[in-house]
Amino acid sequence: MPKAVSLFTGCGGSDRGLIDAGFDVVMANDTMGYARDVYLANLPETDYVLGNVADVRSFPEVDLLAGCYPCQGFSVGGVREAGRKINYLYREFDRALRQIKPKAFIVENVSGMRNANNQHLAVNQLTRFRMAGYKVDWSILDARAYGVAQERTRMFFVGIRSDLGVRYEFPQPTHSLPGEDVHGLPSCPTIRDRIEDLPLWPEGEYDNQPFHWYYLSRDRWRDWGQVSRTIVANSRHTPLHPVSPRLKRIGTDEWRFVEDAPARRLSYREAARLQGFGDMTFPETGGTRLRYRVIGNAVPPPLFKAVASAIPDIW
Ligand SMILES: C[S@@+](CC[C@H](N)C(=O)[O-])C[C@H]1O[C@@H](n2cnc3c(N)ncnc32)[C@H](O)[C@@H]1O
Repeated sequence: MPKAVSLFTGCGGSDRGLIDAGFDVVMANDTMGYARDVYLANLPETDYVLGNVADVRSFPEVDLLAGCYPCQGFSVGGVREAGRKINYLYREFDRALRQIKPKAFIVENVSGMRNANNQHLAVNQLTRFRMAGYKVDWSILDARAYGVAQERTRMFFVGIRSDLGVRYEFPQPTHSLPGEDVHGLPSCPTIRDRIEDLPLWPEGEYDNQPFHWYYLSRDRWRDWGQVSRTIVANSRHTPLHPVSPRLKRIGTDEWRFVEDAPARRLSYREAARLQGFGDMTFPETGGTRLRYRVIGNAVPPPLFKAVASAIPDIW
């Protein structure tokens, strides 16, 4: 069984995918205590090192290194400050890569990395990884095409050590997108497929803060037969559950419920299902917001599994 080290591990979306793809994750690392707690409650075999990656001085020898730096650097906000942060974090990944020299690595990040403002960062990372001795390919993948019932696109870099003489090819879709049947593949699953069996009003498991103007500045509703909108880390911005009345547009960036009926956000448990996790254990050491946060930060396990499984047999 090939061995892996995971950095920026969070609660383990990437690692669930690696394990499902046949890897043994021997070490994980993150700064967030609650992410560690959720991880170990669900994947207890891994040595999870809690703390800043910059303080991890040595890594075990493994075949694969995986890492998903945080994405704040690529979203709105002070570009210069964000730039400094992300430079620092991918340098840490690069340091681990040069120390371990694994046969392959996988990096996941938000697709915003290819936008004009951030392109230099993507190019910088590619250059570093190539200089570290890897043939590197990148792609933007749509999670729906790999069986995830959610709108989520992510950027991946996959590198294979140059001396192995093998090139990586990103996996072909396993599911057709909504409204498409071009590949003769099964349709991607819907919200119904993933959460219909769960209670309709799971008290205490969803964020019930009021729907403020920012929340109602866009359409947060999807029906049972559709895929979910993106599951985010901030519980206040979590999409609506289909039991809620639909929203209608009443102006620029202004939406209203079509009727005065009870409405709610998806619960953290439903969010986990829609990310492609199975049923997870959430330890009591963290409350509702932290539960949403670790789930929203995660890579959908089926997507990471597909990327990892597409690495040729170099182990
Ligand atoms: C996008 S999330 C990773 C998601 C994770 N791979 C998963 O699939 O569940 C990025 C993670 O990086 C962690 N992080 C941020 N700065 C860090 C640092 N300096 N050292 C270690 N982890 C850090 C955050 O706490 C967060 O959990």
